[in-house]
Amino acid sequence: MIGPDARAVEFASSPKRDLTLVRGSLATLWDDAGKEYIDCGASFGVGNLGHCNPAIVEAIAAQARELIHVGPSFGTTAKAGFVDKLLSVAPPNLKRVFLSNSGSESVEAAIKFARASTGRKKVVAAMRGFHGRTMGALSATWRRDFREPFEPLVPGFHHVPFNDVDALDKAVDSDTAAVLLEAVQGEGGVHVATQEYLPAAREICDRRHAALIIDEVQTGMGRTGRLFAIERWGVEPDILTLAKSLAGGVPIGATLTTEAVEKAFHGSHTSTFGGNSLACAAGTAAIEYIVREKLWERAERLGNEAFETLRGLDARSVREVRGLGLMIGIELRGKAGPVLQALQEDGVLAIGGGSSVIRLLPPLVIPEEQWSRAIDAIGRALQHG
Ligand SMILES: Cc1ncc(COP(=O)(O)O)c(C=O)c1O
Repeated sequence: MIGPDARAVEFASSPKRDLTLVRGSLATLWDDAGKEYIDCGASFGVGNLGHCNPAIVEAIAAQARELIHVGPSFGTTAKAGFVDKLLSVAPPNLKRVFLSNSGSESVEAAIKFARASTGRKKVVAAMRGFHGRTMGALSATWRRDFREPFEPLVPGFHHVPFNDVDALDKAVDSDTAAVLLEAVQGEGGVHVATQEYLPAAREICDRRHAALIIDEVQTGMGRTGRLFAIERWGVEPDILTLAKSLAGGVPIGATLTTEAVEKAFHGSHTSTFGGNSLACAAGTAAIEYIVREKLWERAERLGNEAFETLRGLDARSVREVRGLGLMIGIELRGKAGPVLQALQEDGVLAIGGGSSVIRLLPPLVIPEEQWSRAIDAIGRALQHG
């Protein structure tokens, strides 16, 4: 090893896995001892296109020779190309794009746009929801242990039970700027919105003139079996947040809005690295790849096969298997930690979603043979768990 182990000096703000990774190729990762792993966490949902996808590597290398970064107030061909590409596949009512660097930043922008376009203060979010760790996004996030050490948070945030239409209807009033929801709650343990919930949220927002923000940071870009999860509910949000896999592994965030939101917006908001040329070139290549390969169809097919196998397991440790496409949550009767550790030893990297849920977010490009091996290993771990 050269120099100190980075994990020893990194600020210990989140639990660490006892693993140093050195190389990746699509759904395969290698550690510093040369051991091979099947990646079923895809870097917390960043890796829809897999590790070092040649299309992304090429795009980054070519862009790095041309222009890496200029401030967000300048136009670049990389940014123009990406924004065009993104709007060509986005829900058709969304016509404006704000670019940033992460999911949290895309949510911060969404909250600011909603408040400054409605002139209202209140934001209604869901229990078990996760929207990020910066102070605004954290205020919309539910988990108490994430929130409490940093209080006081931003005022004006209210949480209602997910999938409860009456509770949402009661919470949204004439001072509500926005309702902020995930279509599938990822970090909260992979809970899918009911078929009636998101259309009802749309109707409530329309009736009270509040903005509907759908956070697709984790569900977007093919993960759930549609390019955007919201397509399944036939709902058009006023604001949509994207990040994670949007640029094939390069940091990016995007907040898409309607023209009406932009027109009513009074204020300013910007981000130094927003619209970074490397990220935009990677983002254009990522969208082209996802669309060319119809990765959402692959996610749907491989996901359905896995649901059938996992639901058919005779494993007393499993309470429920739920999700959409290649966003799969396995709720256990006990803790997820020991099963995740056993899987790691068996060469499969999965992630948690709350303390008792195993979350699978494999790259959408995972070869079928590798996916079957991963599901077999997961079955073994669950039957012994
Ligand atoms: C739905 C959702 N929103 C926002 C975020 C925050 O994204 P980031 O960690 O890039 O700030 C996440 C991260 O997991 C997420 O799943």
